[in-house]
Amino acid sequence: SHCKEYGFVFPSSEIYDGLGAVYDYGPYGVELKNNIREYWWKSMVQMNDNIVGIDASIFMHPTVWKASGHVDAFSDPLIDNKDSKKRYRADVLIEEHIAKIEGKIDKEIEKAKKRFENFDEKMFRTTNARILEYQKKIDEINTRMKSALEKNDLAEVKQIIIDCEIVCPISGSRNWTDVRQFNLMFSTQMGSVADDANTIYLRPETAQGIFVNFLNVQRSARMKIPFGIAQTGKAFRNEIVARQFLFRMREFEQMEMQFFVRPGEEMQWYNTWKEKRIKWHHAMGFGADRYRFHDHLKLAHYANAASDIEFQFPFGFKEIEGIHSRTDFDLNAHEKFSGKKLQYFDSELNKNYVPYVIETSIGLDRMFLAVLAAAFEVEKLSSNNSEEEGNERVVLRIPAALAPVKAAVFPLVKKDGLPEKAMEIFNQLKQICRCYYEEKDTIGKRYRRQDAIGTPFCITVDHESLKDNCVTLRHRDSMQQ
Ligand code: GAP
Repeated sequence: SHCKEYGFVFPSSEIYDGLGAVYDYGPYGVELKNNIREYWWKSMVQMNDNIVGIDASIFMHPTVWKASGHVDAFSDPLIDNKDSKKRYRADVLIEEHIAKIEGKIDKEIEKAKKRFENFDEKMFRTTNARILEYQKKIDEINTRMKSALEKNDLAEVKQIIIDCEIVCPISGSRNWTDVRQFNLMFSTQMGSVADDANTIYLRPETAQGIFVNFLNVQRSARMKIPFGIAQTGKAFRNEIVARQFLFRMREFEQMEMQFFVRPGEEMQWYNTWKEKRIKWHHAMGFGADRYRFHDHLKLAHYANAASDIEFQFPFGFKEIEGIHSRTDFDLNAHEKFSGKKLQYFDSELNKNYVPYVIETSIGLDRMFLAVLAAAFEVEKLSSNNSEEEGNERVVLRIPAALAPVKAAVFPLVKKDGLPEKAMEIFNQLKQICRCYYEEKDTIGKRYRRQDAIGTPFCITVDHESLKDNCVTLRHRDSMQQ
């Protein structure tokens, strides 16, 4: 509701009751989104002299998606509960069950810590035995799930759900259908004739636009391996279990980078990019403990190693970015399907090869949600706060570099030449950053409104300003003036 009230995010087509898992960004949302995208772009393209950018089309030749494996393998294993009629991703149900067991281990540890003073050997043994038992259960489920998903053994996936006694969160029953695979790509028709031959897809990831342009970019920008190609843009997935606001959308934006390396060097670069990307997240200043890696059990059809960077959202630790070692899968597949060579001549090794690829892929909307979730605070104020606008304020502590508006300029009153002076400052400042001018309401109310959209600095012009050419600069986080 804060996002809607303050112009960050609106449900799509709201006057028609909205469209599931599709959202529109409002006046402040679009600024924040642009700033996150620009921050990512600068850190990838501007700061790395071996990374260049592209902007490929959303529509691509349909064979691209045959080659990439998306037509055959881009699907989710779904299961329905017959009582609630709700549909779930079977692997997510199992992962959530595992997370519950992990929670039990954490509780045991917490209990032990509390009883630390009088923790005797018997207690230690029972606690230890319980933890080992839980861990064993987790390992067993993980091993079964990994094997079932790898073999696409959907009956076994259902059996795990039954054996773990997983119930539907809505109906509480275990009345499950069989597990089925469901393709997530949206299709449409190109041209005037609606037949299968004209079926094209809305891209489910931006990465393929990079792969098919690999040689165009390498040659035109004279890139030498190792090098990267970065891109931001829309992607579309017909998510069945779409929920948690911007976390899982049907139309969303990705910021992806494919880094092309020599075969055999991919693991070293995989680790390098894992490290670089977690540092980028830590630099947001939200606290390193809000991030963790989650190495994949089930590898996508193109990967030989994969890890997620997970962020602690209000609904738990969830993936915000994926780092994948995609081997030479994509380039090889495009060579095969297009009949065109996609090889690189390495002059140092004096040989041609299909490069291996490390991918970093982050969702812009998920990053947006993470920034808002970390920045949002309802702060209790001391009774002697000088702003005299209640004992509580809502503040978005968005890092200044990402804040939608960097500075707001206020005349203390709407007369005596103060608006003109304030406007003069506003007109100068707006040349270099997004600013806001306001003269309505008390100064305290105006500060509160800027806190709520995360403006780091407010500039107030008062009668003194006309004499000494000085202003009051007010800082959002400390409220210091
Ligand atoms: N090219 C690799 C790829 O697309 P992915 O893990 O499927 O990998 C990468 O997606 C990132 O895109 C995710 O970490 C997430 O941030 C974002 N993403 C994926 N599906 C999304 C969705 N339905 N809504 C919002 N963001 C999504």
